Amino acid sequence: MKRFTQALNIVLTVILFFSPAKVRAQKATIAATPPMGWNSWNLFACKVSDVVVRAAADAMAKNGMKDAGYSYINIDDCWQGHRDAAGTIQGNERFPDMKALADYVHSKGLKIGIYSSPGPRTCAGYEGSYQHEEQDARTYAAWGFDYLKYDWCSADKVYKNSDMPAVYKKMSDALKATGRPIVYSLCQYGVDAVWTWGARSGGNLWRTTRDIQPNYNSIVALGFGENSGIEHFAGPGRWNDPDMLEVGNGQLTLDENRLHMSQWALLAAPLLAGNDLANTRPEILSILTNREVIAVDQDPLGVQGYRIWQAGPIDVWVKPLADGSKAVGIFNKGEPQEPVTVQFRDLGVGKSATIRQLWDGKDLGRFENAFTASVPTHGVVLIKVK
Ligand code: GLA
Repeated sequence: MKRFTQALNIVLTVILFFSPAKVRAQKATIAATPPMGWNSWNLFACKVSDVVVRAAADAMAKNGMKDAGYSYINIDDCWQGHRDAAGTIQGNERFPDMKALADYVHSKGLKIGIYSSPGPRTCAGYEGSYQHEEQDARTYAAWGFDYLKYDWCSADKVYKNSDMPAVYKKMSDALKATGRPIVYSLCQYGVDAVWTWGARSGGNLWRTTRDIQPNYNSIVALGFGENSGIEHFAGPGRWNDPDMLEVGNGQLTLDENRLHMSQWALLAAPLLAGNDLANTRPEILSILTNREVIAVDQDPLGVQGYRIWQAGPIDVWVKPLADGSKAVGIFNKGEPQEPVTVQFRDLGVGKSATIRQLWDGKDLGRFENAFTASVPTHGVVLIKVK
């Protein structure tokens, strides 16, 4: 089975390299590379407000994140108020003027995202879009929103799981009818193999996992488990989403933060920071803004990386890149280890290759047949092999 998967990976990689991904990259006008930005949920949950969102936009515009490629400021759950007499959704008391907020974020050269549910209520119990889909899409477009996360939540009270593809398509059609380009993010936690139908329902990305938590075990479970083996379904305009980043949250060590960011980059995952941007420690900011790591995520070929080797706590993942090189993550998910040797033949590169270490941007020179790395506990050595 492992051999078959490896063979399949090689065949698909060759096919992807020689054209379809490039063709798809040209075709995808929305989310041609995985969306990058910030989302309020992981840290602020229902304490999000107009003030918090403006502060995140202010920070992103001037802390180097915008320059590094981050562009979306996404409001998650808990912004909704009541519908007016005409049925138009309003922001609640923490969001007095949604249009003014969108204008403000745009004035920083950034884009803005919003959140709703196809059910009557969102997961936190706020007003959903059930039976107001077209009207809500028009409202979001009129306010100037650029991104919608559409979260199943209470939709199971009014629909069956088998209705999901049609229910998600309905909102996609409504968004398209507005004429405004709006990134469409499906959130139903990976139920019913969403990666097999998410794009047909108009999704640009779809959650493949349960909710992430700010701890190491959760990051490993989602990033190395639930989101693996489905790489062939991802590509420009259609991304698997192992949930938003917890970089800078909880008690993660710097190595754990780097492991998290590296794996999301190898997975071509959306990079949506979930920390307090207005109060980010410099060492966390430098993890979020490392250009060479971001370039792995944003590579225009749009191939999601895959595992090629696993032994105990050691995992090796590869992501083919547009320039013919490969990004390789050598992970140590356990305690201190003997150095790890990766054979070039397992990476599918020739006998001789040059290696660049990405986190510290260091050229290590030319190697023959193999590369050996010492990988820190709960850490990664992320390299580019050419
Ligand atoms: C679900 C989603 C989360 C977040 C919350 C908001 O749990 O998976 O990402 O949007 O709802 O209530």
